[in-house]
Amino acid sequence: MNISLGSEEYIEAALETAKLAYAPYSGYRVGCVVVTTEDEIYRGANIENGSYGLTCCAERVALYHAMMHGKGPGDIKAVVIASTDDSFPSPCGACRQVLAELAPQARVVTSNGKAVKVATVSELLPAVFSLRPGDHNSPITNH
Ligand code: THU
Repeated sequence: MNISLGSEEYIEAALETAKLAYAPYSGYRVGCVVVTTEDEIYRGANIENGSYGLTCCAERVALYHAMMHGKGPGDIKAVVIASTDDSFPSPCGACRQVLAELAPQARVVTSNGKAVKVATVSELLPAVFSLRPGDHNSPITNH
């Protein structure tokens, strides 16, 4: 996938999806679009809760949405995250761990509606925890 050519419409879709956020506590609205290898898209926005720790980020809502439509880790080529808030969007640590499991090959595109950044999942989470035997790609050295 050529992110720089193909992502503009996905960023627009993610910004549109951010309007669906339920964020009465933070006021920070995030939209996420999961793009499959077949160019299908699955949307998610952050959903907060008065018991703050129950909040689910836009990325996880979108990834779980894709899973509920039968998509799996091999099917996701991009995860596009957008927010027009002053803070540039960046997936939180929990979402990075979920991305590593459910969308390991994806390009992660972030945008504030103006600038765009693209990263791989392993760039975002180099020392991922994995229960899969053999998944020892950690840069942390033994002592
Ligand atoms: N949030 C996301 O949806 N995605 C991120 O990558 C970071 C944070 C949400 C969670 C919460 O509803 C609000 O942003 C403030 O943390």
